[in-house]
Amino acid sequence: MDKEEQDKLKKQAAVEAAELVKSGMKLGVGTGSTVAFLIDELGRRKKEEGLDLDAVVTTSSRSKKQMESYGFHVDDLNAVDQLDLTIDGADRLAANFDGIKGGGGALTMEKNVAVNSRKIIWIVDESKVVDRLSGFALPVEVLPISCEQNFKLFQAEGLQPQWRMAGNERFVTHYGNYIIDLNIDPIPVPSGLADYLDHTVGVVEHGLFLGMCDEAIIAHSNGEIEDRK
Ligand code: 5RP
Repeated sequence: MDKEEQDKLKKQAAVEAAELVKSGMKLGVGTGSTVAFLIDELGRRKKEEGLDLDAVVTTSSRSKKQMESYGFHVDDLNAVDQLDLTIDGADRLAANFDGIKGGGGALTMEKNVAVNSRKIIWIVDESKVVDRLSGFALPVEVLPISCEQNFKLFQAEGLQPQWRMAGNERFVTHYGNYIIDLNIDPIPVPSGLADYLDHTVGVVEHGLFLGMCDEAIIAHSNGEIEDRK
């Protein structure tokens, strides 16, 4: 699938999901190119239909800026007790609704917003949908103070680590940390790996989102928009 076709599908999934947003909701808004289409549609609905959200929390400064450009007020997560709904993109969606996120480097905020949401909807094009988690390196956000030790540990464990780069420099997250991408393909036991990473000192967060997504809107190249629950 070329980029133009993929963007078309991303937009279709995003516009479909935007319909599920109602005035009065406390809404979590994710990060990425698919979510950028969602924000455009929310902006259109605000202008043309008077969509009026009770609260908005975003998972990146990019999404915050875009929401604000449409006149939405964006709160910090700490200021909102619980979100009614979060809509986000994903890098992989498995048949059992496990996913990989963090391709854009916003995984820590994304997971924190996700766990504080009553409902989570992911919007994806069909290229992200897999039987089991595969085809995308797993992002792991690590603290700078012990990142070299983390990298060597992952190497020794056979997890094929690679530094996330931004040009010639290491990619730096919103929180001033680095990302190590683990090239494990497929991920044989996602829950085991998540448990290992959750208990590795220096790891801030990882991109395994297991059992978090409640509903996925998937745009297919045959024109079908699948609402998978
Ligand atoms: C950012 C993410 C994104 O949701 C994910 O990378 C999908 O991005 P896109 O919609 O651009 O394909 O997890 O950290």
